[in-house]
Amino acid sequence: MNYTNILQEIYQEIQPYSKMGAPASYIPELQRVNPDRYGICLYTIDRNEYAMGDCDERFSIQSISKVLSLAIGFSRMGDRLWKRIGVEPSGNAFNSIIQLEMEKGIPRNPLINAGALVMTDILLSILSDPEKEYLAFVRQLCGCKDIQYNESMATSERDTGFLNAAIVNMLKYYGNIDNDVERVLSFYFRQCSVEMNCRELSRTFLPFADHTHPFSFGDISLTTSQVKRINAIMQTCGFYDEAGEFSYLVGLPGKSGVGGGIAAICPRKYSVAVWSPRLNAKGNSVMGMKALELLTTKTAISIF
Ligand code: DON
Repeated sequence: MNYTNILQEIYQEIQPYSKMGAPASYIPELQRVNPDRYGICLYTIDRNEYAMGDCDERFSIQSISKVLSLAIGFSRMGDRLWKRIGVEPSGNAFNSIIQLEMEKGIPRNPLINAGALVMTDILLSILSDPEKEYLAFVRQLCGCKDIQYNESMATSERDTGFLNAAIVNMLKYYGNIDNDVERVLSFYFRQCSVEMNCRELSRTFLPFADHTHPFSFGDISLTTSQVKRINAIMQTCGFYDEAGEFSYLVGLPGKSGVGGGIAAICPRKYSVAVWSPRLNAKGNSVMGMKALELLTTKTAISIF
C-alpha cells in the first residue's frame, strides 16, 4: 500500500473543508491554538511511519485520554468495572447530564464525560500516586519520556468546567463516586490536558491495533480479549452522538477530542492520528473525520 501517496491525495482532497467548523471555545486556553493546523501520522504494525503536515506540533488530546484511562481501569479491575459504568452508546453529547439522572448515576459508557469521571474516581482509588502513574503509563505506551500534562490547560478548564462539576456531583449523589469531587475533577482535567503530536499519538494507539501481541506496559497489561473489547467501545461510543456517522463514513474504531485530534486503529494493520482544530457541531474535527473517511475509501480497508 502506498500510504505516502494516499496521505498526499487526502491532503489535496480535504482542502475544500479547511475553513469549515470552529475550534472549541469553551476552554479559554484551547482558543490560543492556530485553527489552520493539520497533521496526520499513520503507523503500521511493522513499525513504518507515514506522516505529513503539522505532525510534530503537540496539541491537547482531551477526550482521547479517556481510552487510556479505560485501559488502566480495565487492566486493574477487569469486569468489575461494568458494575459502575455501561458499554452502550449514549446517542448524546459528550457532556450530557440528562441520561445520567434517568439512569440513576450509571453512565452509559467510559468514553462520555460521566463515564470518564467514574473511571477517574476508580483510578484515584486504585493508584497510589494517580497523576504520576497515569503519565508513566502514557509515556511507556507512546515510547516518549517527555509527555506532560499542560497545567494551564487543566486550570483553564477547571475555571469554566461547571457542567463537569455538575455531572460529578450528580454521580456522587447516586453513590457512584468514592473520592472527593474536587479531587476527581482535578485529575480528570489533567488527563484531558495531556499533549502529544500526531506521531506520538499514533504510536500510543498502535498496541490497540496490534492486539495479537501482548499489551503490557509496566504494570498495566491487557489480554487480547480486553483490547478487543476496548476497540469495540471505541467503535460504538468514541464519537458520542456522531458514533454512527463515524462508523458509517470511516469504519474504524476511534476516539476524538475537542483539541481537534482523532486517533483510530485498523486492527492488525495500523494506527492513525490526525489533528485539525476546527470542529463540527458535535465537537469532532471536520478535516480529521474527512481525512479518515478518505483513508479507508482509498485503501479499501476498514473493519467492515
Ligand atoms: O470534559 C471536557 O469537556 C473536555 N475536557 C473533554 C471533552 C472532549 O474532548 C470531548 N470530545 N470530543
